[in-house]
Amino acid sequence: MNDFGPVNPKWPRLWFGGDYNPDQWPEAIRVEDARLMKLCHANAMSVGIFAWSQLEPRPGQYDWSWLDETFERLAKSGVRIALATPSAAHPRWLTAMHPEVQAVDARRVRLPHGLRQRFCPTSPVYRENVARIDRTLAERYKDHPALVLWHLSNEYAPACWCDLCVGEFRAWLKDRYGGDLDTVNRQWWATFWSHRFSDWSQVIPPYADCHVVPHGLVLDWKRFQSHQVCDFFKHEIATVKAVTPEVPVTTNLMGFYETIDYAAFADVMDVVSWDCYSQVGGDDSHMACSHAMMRGLKGNRPWLLMEQTPSSTNWFEYPTLKPPGLMRMWSWMAMGHGSDSSMYFQWRRTRGSAEKFHGAFVGHEGSEKPRVFQEMTALGEEMDRIGQNLVGTRPARARIGLLWDQENRWAIEQACGPGHHKDPVGQLTKHYKAVWQNALSVDVVRVDGDWSQYDLLIAPMLYMLKSGEFPRKGSPEETRGRVDVVDKLRRWLATGGTFVTTFLSGISNENDLVYEGGYPGPLRPILGLWVEEIDVTRPGTAANTMVMAPKAFAGAKKSYKADRYFDQVNVETARVLASYGDNWYKGRPCLTVNPCGPGRAYYIACDADDAFLKDFYRALAAEQGLEPIVKPVADVEALERVAPDGRRLVFLLNHSAKKKMVALGKIKGTELLSGKKVKQQVALAPYGVAIIEA
Ligand code: GLA
Ligand code: ZN
Repeated sequence: MNDFGPVNPKWPRLWFGGDYNPDQWPEAIRVEDARLMKLCHANAMSVGIFAWSQLEPRPGQYDWSWLDETFERLAKSGVRIALATPSAAHPRWLTAMHPEVQAVDARRVRLPHGLRQRFCPTSPVYRENVARIDRTLAERYKDHPALVLWHLSNEYAPACWCDLCVGEFRAWLKDRYGGDLDTVNRQWWATFWSHRFSDWSQVIPPYADCHVVPHGLVLDWKRFQSHQVCDFFKHEIATVKAVTPEVPVTTNLMGFYETIDYAAFADVMDVVSWDCYSQVGGDDSHMACSHAMMRGLKGNRPWLLMEQTPSSTNWFEYPTLKPPGLMRMWSWMAMGHGSDSSMYFQWRRTRGSAEKFHGAFVGHEGSEKPRVFQEMTALGEEMDRIGQNLVGTRPARARIGLLWDQENRWAIEQACGPGHHKDPVGQLTKHYKAVWQNALSVDVVRVDGDWSQYDLLIAPMLYMLKSGEFPRKGSPEETRGRVDVVDKLRRWLATGGTFVTTFLSGISNENDLVYEGGYPGPLRPILGLWVEEIDVTRPGTAANTMVMAPKAFAGAKKSYKADRYFDQVNVETARVLASYGDNWYKGRPCLTVNPCGPGRAYYIACDADDAFLKDFYRALAAEQGLEPIVKPVADVEALERVAPDGRRLVFLLNHSAKKKMVALGKIKGTELLSGKKVKQQVALAPYGVAIIEA
């Protein structure tokens, strides 16, 4: 696949459909499904996700009838299939024969059969059985024209503390540290509380994620678990690729999911896909940031929105319905972020079990009459109609990037202090929102990604500064985690970049070993300062003021608010742009800038408020000559896709229930959804969408 897609040249459409479980329903309903799919313009379904016990009711005895029939029927109705491998939920007969396929939890208790995604990713028996069912599926449908994608497993998440996994962990550690236990002891600062190991066999995973064992161990155990699940993913990939090398593979990811490092996953799949569940009435900037992070894993190439809900999400504390128009707007939003699909969980509400109250195209009433089905149909019609204008385009190249690294997040979250509410995901989202509200194009970029396209790089809480030493050179382990961040940053600054980082940056290396010589470690000369102490206060009790120096940046107000985190900064070569206005450290710097050759490096020493970040990034962008897509309007998101021939598609999304007017500046062209020519301005209805082909 080139940079612009499509995801599968055999199905160059915007994919519209969802999780389909024909295995749960009698034939009459399956026939009705095909009629309803046609009616709502569905063109892609994910099939067989949890169907192992229906595909193989007894060991080695297969029942293909329902799936054969589904392939035929859907193909006839113009629907293509994302075929799932069923490894996320295994049949009871398998655990009866081989209890060891079940994962062991952190208290070393083997989990009983029941929940999905609870297998041991190391178990050879599990791997063998999964390979067998995957291969059999692949062989059966390899030549079927309806097969357009492998949907491997579902939301991989297992974690296992069994002896096999622990054995693999030790082997993984040996690779990472070049086989030298002393290095491990040093990197983990294992002398602390007498954690020193004198033999590899003594190394055991943490009891649970807690602060009392070496931080380096907890971090490596997280890395290993993620690695091991990815290894399982690779096992499934190899199995299906051996039979169907040309069918792209994906697995559905979960945004800022805590325990998996998706960067490694992205490297081995053909197309990123993810499941987006957002609370109605929440802050949509979090969803926008999640889309950007997910697509950024694979360089912003076209991706798939694999799941969202058509109406409500049953497992939410408050499963609020999406009011009319919201489902449509959120769907176009994903496509504005570069998705080539809008897929949903689920096609039809189940009659029994955990997801009977989850939103679906088709409810328990069963017909096309309900509002939800009508809205889905209207969207399906639109996607069908304008799909050709979008497929083969991708998100416009942003020149602002936000750095994200899951290992950095782990290190921050696991560290005992400073404070309980560091919230690296919240910080990323907060900075993202500030840029996004200015209607500027922005990406979330990997620490080990390509930074060359960015003029402005923002790294909130870059706590972990990887030194590039680990995993050791020559390690057969994946090497994507190895990056010398400071060296990379220096080279990037030498091209004239503007870098922004914040409190809690430059603290430790990739093993959470603190750098000596004061915070922010090796960033000290780059930022031209050092941090002496970090004050953490209860929100609202000691909020401070950032008093701006004259002309700190264009359009700066006299002061802004900050709360919770207050670094005590000593400047060396940096220029002070703002100082604290209150508390015993009144007058000390809280915003600085330091020249770095042709580039510059800013330090935000406190948890600055939204207003500051918004003004600050607007000014920095303007200094770089970056123009907003349109003149920013509150609650209106602006996104842009481009075609290889330079054709632009500007998405304007109204996130509010109020009508909005957006001035178009120089943009003019056809608004694709209405087919009308637009210039100067467009009106957006509540939750309205405009897609202007310019
Ligand atoms: C996840 C799963 C689906 C379903 C939905 C419900 O995303 O992948 O199988 O359980 O959640 O929201
Ligand atoms: Zn295990």
